[in-house]
Amino acid sequence: MEDENVFHSFSKSDMYNLPDTNSLSKTELYNLLKEQTRALVAEEFDFIANTANLSSLLWHSLPQINWVGLYRLQLKELVLGPFQGKPACVRIPVGKGVCGTAVKENRSILVPDVHQFPGHIACDAESRSELVVPLRASEDLILGVLDIDSPIPNRFDEIDRLGIEAIAEILTSHVSRLIKATS
Ligand code: SME
Repeated sequence: MEDENVFHSFSKSDMYNLPDTNSLSKTELYNLLKEQTRALVAEEFDFIANTANLSSLLWHSLPQINWVGLYRLQLKELVLGPFQGKPACVRIPVGKGVCGTAVKENRSILVPDVHQFPGHIACDAESRSELVVPLRASEDLILGVLDIDSPIPNRFDEIDRLGIEAIAEILTSHVSRLIKATS
């Protein structure tokens, strides 16, 4: 029998058959996504598996996006991880592009118009706005970034930033427990 405390109101089959979210407000959508993220990662500590499923969840749930995925920090470069959307650039040096700047400055970056961001790296020419959130194992230990692109200018706002940061925190606090347990 499934542990209802772990899966909240979701069963595993719900996780594989995502509900219609069209009628939800943005806040309701992020509350649902946080609960779904908890359920998705609850029984699994593998970073690739969890971020692959998280990319799929966000791809199927967030309207008006054309790319969502992960870059993992390896030494001084971000390396492409699980994603949904068109094939993307594989390596981004820390300090370059929106993703590398988010790592260098250890902060989320919301870009209303990518054409106005100096050094923006255009993997998909259709992208017009972008949200990048650091994935942190602790305040100063960055594992990578979660990157979302939209073909719509000004697609992301503070509700998106806070919602995606909360989802990133759910993912990394879960994975960090394993890092702490094995180090
Ligand atoms: N635009 C990003 C590059 C990654 S793609 O958007 C998938 C950047 O400037 O870092």
